[in-house]
Amino acid sequence: MESRQRKKEKSTTGERRKKADTKEKEERRDSNDKEIKQQESTNFGLRIDEVIEDCKLFYIAGQETTTNLLVWTMILLEQHTNWQDCARDEVSKEFGGRKPDIDGLSHLKIISIILHEVLRLYPPIVALERMIHEETKIGNLILPSGSQLLLHVMMLHHDAKIWRDDVNEFNPERFAEGVSKATNGQASYFPFGGGPRICVGQAFAMLEAKLALIMILCRFSFKLSPSYSHAPHTIITLQP
Ligand code: HEM
Repeated sequence: MESRQRKKEKSTTGERRKKADTKEKEERRDSNDKEIKQQESTNFGLRIDEVIEDCKLFYIAGQETTTNLLVWTMILLEQHTNWQDCARDEVSKEFGGRKPDIDGLSHLKIISIILHEVLRLYPPIVALERMIHEETKIGNLILPSGSQLLLHVMMLHHDAKIWRDDVNEFNPERFAEGVSKATNGQASYFPFGGGPRICVGQAFAMLEAKLALIMILCRFSFKLSPSYSHAPHTIITLQP
């Protein structure tokens, strides 16, 4: 049985931790308030409801996309066990039994090209939508203001004129010398969008995917379930 003294100690530690958490939260809020005051304008900085909305956006934009990238990666590595072995070798050479660190992650070439190729074949966001607010000429087309445009990422990523005859094959090697070499300098690889609204979570997503993949590769080899039938479909993101 736990002694009374031990219980008392536990509850004091719990209270102390709670107080420290509250203090940290207050300090963070204060620093936002301070910045707003320094600018002498309430239009500066973020209101608490804006912070909450941003957190929701990060969760929605970042969760499904990265999950799908990882699931597609596992499917493709199961179908191409030579790449699964290469990836596992690279991880064990870089880290041995060590915990992965940020320096080591940036050295992982095989893992990076694998993720690029997965994002080419199965981009979690298959199309980008835009509305134009003034009449715009693109080539021979004159598009009236208010037109809605759809940039079909999936079609671009599967265009044989850009990616050559093995366009539908899983071939991470094509990214061995970087994205611009693989695309011949054409703007044709958009897994994270582009321009001013490019994904703000891009670097974080790649880091997260690499870490998760490393942890999976170190612990498991994997096989597709015999009941798997290949039928990619979109429910907001591209699902297996
Ligand atoms: C593999 C993972 C991911 C993919 C493929 C992806 C893809 C994209 C794409 C294509 C866009 C541009 C949408 C457009 O132009 O209309 C976008 C925007 C965005 N992404 Fe990601 N994303 C990923 C992960 C993440 C993560 C982890 C976060 C946050 C932690 C995130 C946060 C956002 C936000 C906030 C935007 C909107 C940016 C803006 O409109 O200014 N994404 N993402």
